[in-house]
Amino acid sequence: MLMKVRDLDNFTFVLFGANSDLAARKLFPSIYRLASWNQLPGRYRVIGVSRSDFDHETFRAFVRRSIEADDPGVTIDPERFEAFSSSLFYVPVDLTRPEDYAALRDEIRRGVEEEASCRNLLFYLSTPPSLAAHIIGNLDSAGLGGRRPACEGWRKIVIEKPYGHDLESARELNRIVGEVFHEEQIYRIDHYLGKEPVQNILVFRFSNGMFEPLWNRHYIDNVSITIAEDFGIRERGAFYEEVGLLRDIVQNHALQLLASVAMEPPVDLSADAVRDEKEKVFRSLRPLAGEAARQNVVLGQYEGYRREKNVSPESLVETFAAVRFYIDNWRWKGVPFFLKAGKNLSRRVTEIVITFKCPPQNFFGPPDSCSYTANQIVIQIQPGETISIRFGTKRPGEELVTDPVFMTFDYNASFGMEKMSPYQRLLVDAMAGDQMHFIRQDSVESSWAFVDGIRKAFAGSLPDPYAIHSEGPVSVARLIGG
Ligand code: BG6
Repeated sequence: MLMKVRDLDNFTFVLFGANSDLAARKLFPSIYRLASWNQLPGRYRVIGVSRSDFDHETFRAFVRRSIEADDPGVTIDPERFEAFSSSLFYVPVDLTRPEDYAALRDEIRRGVEEEASCRNLLFYLSTPPSLAAHIIGNLDSAGLGGRRPACEGWRKIVIEKPYGHDLESARELNRIVGEVFHEEQIYRIDHYLGKEPVQNILVFRFSNGMFEPLWNRHYIDNVSITIAEDFGIRERGAFYEEVGLLRDIVQNHALQLLASVAMEPPVDLSADAVRDEKEKVFRSLRPLAGEAARQNVVLGQYEGYRREKNVSPESLVETFAAVRFYIDNWRWKGVPFFLKAGKNLSRRVTEIVITFKCPPQNFFGPPDSCSYTANQIVIQIQPGETISIRFGTKRPGEELVTDPVFMTFDYNASFGMEKMSPYQRLLVDAMAGDQMHFIRQDSVESSWAFVDGIRKAFAGSLPDPYAIHSEGPVSVARLIGG
């Protein structure tokens, strides 16, 4: 992949929303790392676009501060940063005004010979969903759309989540972007798909002969997915009031993890073969709407959320969701998948736990003690990057009783090398033209269809309260227990 990227020349990265929180926290540090690791094309330029009143120099200073804030211990090598900084440019644009895009087009064309200047263009939308349609339409009117390249080379667009705010708006966005770019030029990004342990799920499942034969309803009792954070919404009150946790985490990160665990083996490793199998999982999800949603979902809101900045004192927005999913296909029929995701929980952890059924006879403990030692595969995505297998073993001593023990693989211990960040990895994929870890049009729509059912069922209801740094609302117990 990197070979392909290094072979590119005349690459321009155009970042809409250059003043966004995401750009500062994730994108600039990732681009800088790509540049310092020599993972960008030979000649590259980064053009920041937003309403902020920067010029090239103040933009460069802003980028530098973002890189320093990302890794406070880091000492930026002045020469390396200078080389990087000279490739950064800025154009102030009111994203809704078509006439502002002429300046952007001029900046894209400036500095390189006319012919080559439009070769490889990657547009990145780190902007609220409501602006996406404006940007795409205005790019097209300025002659920068993917379906009408002015000269050879490629044009691609990366669109950040949330992709729309429900099924209808996602469909509309797909229609609009589809008029200006071909599906092969569209990269709907979910940074979870750039995490090493998430990409490893495919490898773990399909490169080992010993797990896959057991990976089904005959041997697996349940699967649980946790995406827990020990902090609140931080400064993003306005965003959260519009979005809520179902849209922020469940529609994308959680459903993508679920699909990676539950999908069938792809026919090959092409992007579409992998995405075909994920899409089948979404289509096999038992819909959770109306009463079914109320029985299988608990929404929560942490105490104090309504006092956060830019949050309504009467807000009904959820900051927590627990969902019991069922996948109605031959592999998974009847196996519950439990999801728990939330802000301000007791600890920060993202992990998937696959719990196997108990052996038919339990010789080594009281009859109901099996769950104490039930076999599990625990895929921890963060903070650790580990896979552990849990099994029962004889406790040393005279008696024949079992204790659970773990065998653990740890990325750091085994490989120890400095890893690419998810955004770094996904940017390389987008430049190289690999869409495997990006979400296809059909899947973005089927995951919205699923989440919309839950949202509608709870519309106007007060989420269950939970204490900060707890395990979530106490009502969650009824899902796990039932
Ligand atoms: C983002 C959400 O997509 O993912 C945030 O908008 C969330 O609310 C973040 O905190 C979690 O990402 P990570 O990589 O820190 O788990």
